[in-house]
Amino acid sequence: MKLIFDFSKEYKNLPIAETLSCLKIEKINYKIIELNQELLTISANINNNKITQIAKRLSLTYNIGELLFTSSKSPQELKNKALKVKINNHGSIAIKYRNRSKDIDSQKIVKTLGEIFTLNRKVNLNNPEIEIRCLITNKQIYISRNIKKIDRDQYEKRKVQFRPFFSPISLHPKLSRVMVNLSMARKNDVLLDPFCGTGGILIEAGILGIKTIGNDIDKKLVEGCKQNLKHYNISHFTIYNLDIGEINNKISKIDIVVTDFPYGKSTTTKGEELESLYTRAFNNINYVLKKEGIAVIGLADKDMIKIGEKFFSLENVFDIRVHNSLTRYFAVFIKSNK
Ligand SMILES: C[S@@+](CC[C@H](N)C(=O)[O-])C[C@H]1O[C@@H](n2cnc3c(N)ncnc32)[C@H](O)[C@@H]1O
Repeated sequence: MKLIFDFSKEYKNLPIAETLSCLKIEKINYKIIELNQELLTISANINNNKITQIAKRLSLTYNIGELLFTSSKSPQELKNKALKVKINNHGSIAIKYRNRSKDIDSQKIVKTLGEIFTLNRKVNLNNPEIEIRCLITNKQIYISRNIKKIDRDQYEKRKVQFRPFFSPISLHPKLSRVMVNLSMARKNDVLLDPFCGTGGILIEAGILGIKTIGNDIDKKLVEGCKQNLKHYNISHFTIYNLDIGEINNKISKIDIVVTDFPYGKSTTTKGEELESLYTRAFNNINYVLKKEGIAVIGLADKDMIKIGEKFFSLENVFDIRVHNSLTRYFAVFIKSNK
């Protein structure tokens, strides 16, 4: 089957990396047909259950659909190709579109498709049994039958201000989710956030059924983190209240580390220079992580990645513009034989 992933286009290459990680997590055999910042099309041997699992994880994709055909904007080509498509004889239908081209008139395209696909069929825009999606780009038009809409509202609903314990230090939930996805953590893995703060990353991991361990030097945040995790019905967690230099006394054999390092502005470093704190942090993360374990680290200073490279192999770096004065770097490290 051919699939299309319609990306949100947020944060440059992050939607691509997130989706490829999720395909790997679900061990999907696939061949890339097309990949760019707008979309991914693949041909894959994949069942509905796997598509559902991937859809549950993603945060920077809008929809996953079965790619029916691609076409130029020529109405004749669109019509000829649409006429060859076989969809169920029964079921209500909706034709939806996302227009990413300034030059192409979406109404004309929807009208052409509507004349073919809605023939002898009930149109139901709100709750159709069949949803035909039309992604219009400058290059070409992608017609798909939607399989899963990603529930992106959930991330908005979990924003800090809606959690029982509130602090602005936490990343947007969709970014925390992306970090968890980049780490490729699976259900039975143990994931540690050694600078867990209010628990933003642990919440996203916990919702996916990943076993979570947290730690923070600030006792108030540790209590707040526990409160937040319980609020989202996450019950299997342990949270420590230790300095990063002490975690190896209590924690070992961790599969995955996902964390957002303190960056010395609103998030305290207790007066310690960042270089010293980060060296201690990378050293101890290395100590508690299993061999081949993955660490996804959020940093506010690109130069600090070098400290991580003394302990780990660097796999990838993504820069994320959080707001005007704050760019964050997500570095993906792997524990090799260094
Ligand atoms: C960027 S915040 C993490 C925010 C978190 N991801 C959240 O969702 O709230 C960094 C955290 O590191 C903690 N921290 C700072 N210095 C520490 C240290 N030496 N050992 C352990 N935790 C520390 C801070 O208390 C803060 O909560």
